Amino acid sequence: MHSFFPTRVYAAPLLPEGGKALNDRLERECRQLAHDDGAGRQWSAVNYAGGYTSYGSANRMHTVSPTFAELERHLAAHVRDFSRVLGLDLRGRRLRMTDCWVNIMRHRAHHGLHLHPLSTLSGTYYVRVPRGSPGLKIEDPRLDRMMATPPRRADAEVSPWITLPATAGEILLFESWLRHEVVSNPSRTARISISFNYSWF
Ligand code: NI
Repeated sequence: MHSFFPTRVYAAPLLPEGGKALNDRLERECRQLAHDDGAGRQWSAVNYAGGYTSYGSANRMHTVSPTFAELERHLAAHVRDFSRVLGLDLRGRRLRMTDCWVNIMRHRAHHGLHLHPLSTLSGTYYVRVPRGSPGLKIEDPRLDRMMATPPRRADAEVSPWITLPATAGEILLFESWLRHEVVSNPSRTARISISFNYSWF
């Protein structure tokens, strides 16, 4: 039996060890940004119910904060490894971080199914994940072609969605066309993450 067309998602700790100091600084800056960024809070009230995101206001954090620039530097090797696994032939051009923004999801905040248009690779670094907070739900990219497919058993290898666990200090990387969702945060404690896009220049 063959299996074709794999969908790759890369998961790893950002740093092999000693990532806590950087993580603490990132958490402080994320909270400070949410406090200072009035435009972002307004944008979030309309577009990100129950949470704060700097996606509509401060979305190039790697260019304005040395701490986020350090995150970008540590991400570079992971992005290189992932693009190698994907077999991307970059033709002498590079994948560069174009966007980098903060997400703070309070109790019950969720972010529905979406993809990241105009980008090549996307991902998230998890700063703080409260106990019981679900990870990233991703959708089988072939789902919209399965109009007449019978349902599948719960133990089937193919399922329409799977949810990857999220762990503080770890990253997930995926191709930007992969539809995904951040499921509602059941915890009273905020869940904090930093998301980013890479494009091929
Ligand atoms: Ni996303």
